[in-house]
Order: sequence, then structure tokens, then C-alpha cells
Amino acid sequence: MTGAPATLTAAAVRVLTTAPAADKVALTRAFAAERRAGGLRQVGDARPPDRPARPPRPELRPPRDMPRRAPGSLAGRVAFLHAIAHIELNAIDLAWDIIARFAGDGLPAAFFDDWVSVAADEAEHFALLEDRLGELGAHYGALPAHDGLWEAAESTADDLLARLAIVPMNLEARGLDTTPTAIDRLRRHGDDASAAVLARIADEEVGHVAAGVRWFEVLAARRGLDPVAAFRQILAERFKGRLKGPFNGPARAAAGMDTAYFATAPDAAARPALDN
Ligand SMILES: [Fe+2]
Ligand SMILES: [Fe+2]
Repeated sequence: MTGAPATLTAAAVRVLTTAPAADKVALTRAFAAERRAGGLRQVGDARPPDRPARPPRPELRPPRDMPRRAPGSLAGRVAFLHAIAHIELNAIDLAWDIIARFAGDGLPAAFFDDWVSVAADEAEHFALLEDRLGELGAHYGALPAHDGLWEAAESTADDLLARLAIVPMNLEARGLDTTPTAIDRLRRHGDDASAAVLARIADEEVGHVAAGVRWFEVLAARRGLDPVAAFRQILAERFKGRLKGPFNGPARAAAGMDTAYFATAPDAAARPALDN
């Protein structure tokens, strides 16, 4: 397929069907800039692939087959940054997939602006990690990577409300919980440059969770659903892992996520702070 895509969904499908990571990043930057400049206004109806195209490397393996390395060692830090880079590449595809897959749901332009902006952030996150891996003598593709990340997209391909609950409000919100510990660990091992990359990513991920919460609540209201009850029901039906703390209350609050969404006890929302 050649030529500039005429619609936003065609642009999304272009990224999703492009395998090289550097090309996914470059196309995402270009399409996001075009949208910001007032282009790609027509949403269109191009259909996304079931699975995005991916480069031949990294080799994808089940999580249990991933090599273990000492967390503070150079090899351990490289393995960790490589794993995050893989998550960010997946996140680029997830953002474009939500645009193309749910284009027919009658959503306003602001919805598409939000996910284009998320895709652009994820492309920068991937690029930052790729640069940092390079400084450490590695690159994306040098190590095997986790095979199961697209499952969240497949298990929620039928319903935008479920997609928002599982991806931004659960998986990305979990990132808000776990990243501060990872940043501390990198600093403790003297890797301030990697810590700075992760800190920037963590800041911007708050906005992704916020977009998830905002559109989830718009959609729940449209369907006449109580958002917290709907969120919990979707998690119970579609998310294998249980909701797990400790939660980063301040970051989740900054994303507009009411504690009732993740409180572990029925009365926890009434308490001023969670137990962690
Ligand atoms: Fe990201
Ligand atoms: Fe994100």
C-alpha cells in the first residue's frame, strides 16, 4: 500500500500493518502531526488487522520462558528496558487499534484526538527507550520479548467499554503503580539516565489513564450504566488477573480515577486513604 492515507482509520491501519518498529514510530509521528495541523479529519472505516504486523525480532516467547537476570546488573537493566520498550511498541498499536476498531461507535472528534495523542506519546516512549538501550550497547530486538501483550486487545475487540476498562484503566493504571519502584531501583543502581526516561514516561501515562477514565465514563453514561459497577463487572468477566495493589493513589487520582474503581473492600471508597 502506497500513498498518503486519506482518513484517520486508514492512517491507523497503515501503522498497524507496518512491521519495522522505526517505521511505526515515524508514521505515528507524521500522522499525529498531520492531525494536529487540522488534517486526517475524516474518520473513515478502514478495518484494523486482528493482529498488528511486528518485526521478525524480538523473538516472542511465553512469559515463563523469559531469561532471568540479576536486577541491578547491566544485563538486568537492559532486559528491563527491553521489556518496557516492547510494551511501548505494543501501546502504539493499541492506540491506533482503538481508533480504527471503534470508529463506528459514533464518538466525537475529541475521542480521536485523545488516542492520536496517546499514540504519539507511545511512539516517543519507544524511541526514548530505544535510544537508552543503544547507550547501553543493546537495541530493541536483541532479547526475546513477552508474547501475550496483544491478548488484552483480542479479548476486548468486541466492545469499547471493555477495551477502556482493561487497557487504559487497568493495565496502564497498573503501570502507574509499579513504575515509581522501578525508578527507585534504577537510581539505587546508579542508572539515573534510565530512571529519567522512566520518570518522563510515568508522567505522560497519567494522561493515558485519564483519557481512558474520561471516555469510559462518557460511554457508561450513554448506556445508562453505573461506571464503577460496570468496570468491576468487566474486570470480573474478562480479566484473568485479580485487581492487585499496592495502588499509586496520587497518580490514579491525578488521572481522575475515583478510588471506588480500585478499592479492595466495599467500604474502602469511604476511607480517606487506602491501606498501602
Ligand atoms: Fe507509554
Ligand atoms: Fe500509555
